[in-house]
Amino acid sequence: KSIELNIEKALGTVSKSDVFALEGKANNGIEMLHKGTGKGNDFLGWLHLPSEISEAHLADLEAAAKQLRDRCEIVVVIGIGGSYLGAKAVIEALSDSFEFLRHEHKNPVVLFAGQNIGEDYLFELQTLLKGKSFGIVVISKSGTTTEPAIAFRLLKEQLEAQVGKEEAKHRIVAVTDAHKGALRKLADTEGYKTFVIADNVGGRFSVLTPVGLLPIAIAGFDIRALVAGAVAMEKACGEEVPFEQNPAAIYAATRNALYQSGKKIEILVNFNPKLHYFAEWWKQLYGESEGKDHLGIFPASVDFTTDLHSMGQWIQEGERIIFETVLSVAQMQHTVTIPSDQENLDGLNYLAGKRVDEVNKMAELGTQIAHVDGGVPNLKIVVPELNETYLGQLIYFFEKACGISGYILGVNPFNQPGVEAYKRNMFALLNKPGYEEESKAIQARL
Ligand code: PA5
Repeated sequence: KSIELNIEKALGTVSKSDVFALEGKANNGIEMLHKGTGKGNDFLGWLHLPSEISEAHLADLEAAAKQLRDRCEIVVVIGIGGSYLGAKAVIEALSDSFEFLRHEHKNPVVLFAGQNIGEDYLFELQTLLKGKSFGIVVISKSGTTTEPAIAFRLLKEQLEAQVGKEEAKHRIVAVTDAHKGALRKLADTEGYKTFVIADNVGGRFSVLTPVGLLPIAIAGFDIRALVAGAVAMEKACGEEVPFEQNPAAIYAATRNALYQSGKKIEILVNFNPKLHYFAEWWKQLYGESEGKDHLGIFPASVDFTTDLHSMGQWIQEGERIIFETVLSVAQMQHTVTIPSDQENLDGLNYLAGKRVDEVNKMAELGTQIAHVDGGVPNLKIVVPELNETYLGQLIYFFEKACGISGYILGVNPFNQPGVEAYKRNMFALLNKPGYEEESKAIQARL
């Protein structure tokens, strides 16, 4: 079994021939990726990453995860952007929604920090960690990002105060560049276990490196199955697969055909709350890859049916510049059946005996029909069930499609020059050494 893309309900706004008109551009994009001849070709390490992951590397990751799992009831994963969202997405998708409230934990609770500069967030986290047995995975490719650096300075100090410097060394793992950056220097000086993020894998394409795999293994999930799923999709979207059979190429072509027809916003929809953060990962992947040169589909997301009671109105009747891509999970992990009630005061007996998911699936179908009727083209990706294998497939599918889509659009999908603008201003405002000129200039504007 495999994830499956269905574009039928998008064909109306654009025709099949509009999609197939982009076959040549999609094939060119695939060729540029595989030959390394396109823009950003120094960041193509993700392309064959799944099939290149070795047994020894997986075993090393599992051993490091075990070390933290054995020692810690909580592991704080510190990172932001591509050094945060992949792990968060997979862990959320696979976790019991209430695991963190259970008294008996099979796995350490994985918490995140450094993904914001919220003072109250950090205060509350530090308060929670007082007296707790915790560990830290600090992730930064550049090793210089401010948000995770602040969080790490705080939590490192707290951990050393709680367990001593020597034990802290066994509870801290750093994931960073092989040679460059402040985190590399700090980790080498302190003697932490480290994992390397290869130069040619950009942050948002790094979930299948230790950036994602280590936290996912610590949380107790099967990274071998995740990688195997990605390997299967690497084959299914390979360069030798014809356009009409390559799901990544079809998805990339369809969303570009829709964009050319005036659909400027793509909403990634789920009907399963566990996929909320998967959409956050997807938004970074597509937003940072395509939003440049004043071009690019704006990636948005909603959780249905929750957001049908808020954003549903806009989607049904607002400006017709949107299309939806629905992640539809076929099979639930558990069964909950709606009971019959003799009084039937709530009038729900017409649902008695049905599974909750049956109601959810009818909500999904009803929504699809309503939105297509309302002028919102609808792509659907069926995920057989939420497990490591299919998440691995989804991850690689979206990555490959993103590379192809960026090349169809004509941008460099692998850089993110725009994210530097806020950093320069922040450093100038904070008088960071080396930003003296910028400080003067920005002060003059205030
Ligand atoms: O995609 C990207 O490159 C960014 O989102 C980075 O992942 C993010 O800024 C974190 O960078 P770093 O891992 O260098 O701390």
